[in-house]
Amino acid sequence: MSGIKITIAIDGYSSCGKSTIAKQLAARLGYSYIDSGAMYRAITLYFLRNGVNYNSPDEVAAALNDIHLSFAFNNTAKSSDIYLNDEDVSQPIRDMLVSEKVSPVAAIKQVRSFAVAQQKRMGRKKGIVMDGRDIGTVVFPDAELKIFMVADPAVRVMRRFKEMYATNPHITIDEVRHNLELRDYIDSTREESPLHRAADALLLDNSSMTRDEQLEKVTVWVKDRAISNMVR
Ligand code: DC
Repeated sequence: MSGIKITIAIDGYSSCGKSTIAKQLAARLGYSYIDSGAMYRAITLYFLRNGVNYNSPDEVAAALNDIHLSFAFNNTAKSSDIYLNDEDVSQPIRDMLVSEKVSPVAAIKQVRSFAVAQQKRMGRKKGIVMDGRDIGTVVFPDAELKIFMVADPAVRVMRRFKEMYATNPHITIDEVRHNLELRDYIDSTREESPLHRAADALLLDNSSMTRDEQLEKVTVWVKDRAISNMVR
């Protein structure tokens, strides 16, 4: 692959497989991978643990002041663990309780400014793949490659169900479906940077693609963008 490093922004609805392709790409290209959703989840976890009333701007501001987020590469998992004030919270942020509250928390303007400022800093040197809901529209509007992912809702529910069932065998398909539908609704209708496809984002529907097929397809897009940026 060409030596030129680009920025890759991946957006889409919950459980479309954004993190899977983002991790694959980062590993193949030697880029860093940042899961921006993990940041909103870690903030939500802090709010839940500390009983922060997220309807109070003062309480939210005070809480954000106490929150420090960082990522550390985990060589075994080949992905980054997220730390909330020096505690590895990669597992607890996946709890259903956090999933239920994360969309309203991520809709708060102060929370978004806090997270977006850090995300922009992480992307300064390029060579990054970041996934989320507003990466191509707000965080990296100048990203050389923007991908908007979609997948059949039934496929998404089963993917998330399998993922959650591994750690919580009491979870039901209906609970997962309800949570995804609600999050899609809140994420795409909120006032602050709602989820939508950037005009220049390439559409990737992976409903019936294998992981290898999607990686090959997106790798072609990366090469194409890297080359066109080299000759510009
Ligand atoms: O990617 P995820 O499902 O783990 O994200 C959790 C929530 O965080 C999601 O419901 C919406 C929010 N989010 C966001 O608002 N903006 C982002 N860039 C990433 C996630």
